[in-house]
Amino acid sequence: MSKKAKIAVLVSGGGTNLQALINAQNKGVIVSGKIEIVISNNANAYALERAKRADIDTAVVLKKDCASQAEFENKIVAMLDEHNIDLIVLAGFMSILSESFTSRYNNRIINVHPSLIPSFCGKGFYGLKVHEAALEKGVKVTGATVHFVNEIPDGGEIILQKAVNIRDDDTPETLQKRVMRLAEWKILPAAVEQVSQKMIS
Ligand code: GAR
Repeated sequence: MSKKAKIAVLVSGGGTNLQALINAQNKGVIVSGKIEIVISNNANAYALERAKRADIDTAVVLKKDCASQAEFENKIVAMLDEHNIDLIVLAGFMSILSESFTSRYNNRIINVHPSLIPSFCGKGFYGLKVHEAALEKGVKVTGATVHFVNEIPDGGEIILQKAVNIRDDDTPETLQKRVMRLAEWKILPAAVEQVSQKMIS
């Protein structure tokens, strides 16, 4: 294996977690891995601009251009192979990957999820919906989790978690922002470094 783990980041939207990874790379928080490519399933994702600004290769794969999930995933696999990717980071990637994809990269895909798994996770829990559900339930503490990705949505081994207190006046939007700032943007870079380091040692 090369001196640094080669990383692909898969995104769909704003890309603030991608930005946290880029910043961590620039600041030397991530030293054992390097982002080689950012792949989006949404051509308008602002995450693509963030990648371009950081001089990172980008690619777009649209489901609507593919006849099947298999074709969609095969296109992603081809890009990963082309860049000899070691580690795949799902950073706000809003598309569930099939078992044929996840089993191909056992212990080599990680995801950031905006709750303390096993609460508010699995199919249908993504983005703002996770925070709406937490507020609806009335939990007093939520947070974020970084975990390995397997065939069960949000079901793989947990790598890092960080708790965030809920305030009485929180809205889904204020809670989402605070969970990102206090938890996701910290534990995702830390987990990427931790996993990359193990991969190259
Ligand atoms: C983040 O909060 C991330 O945890 C969540 O989507 C947001 C993406 O924001 N991911 C999921 O809900 C996956 N199940 P970003 O594009 O600004 O990083």
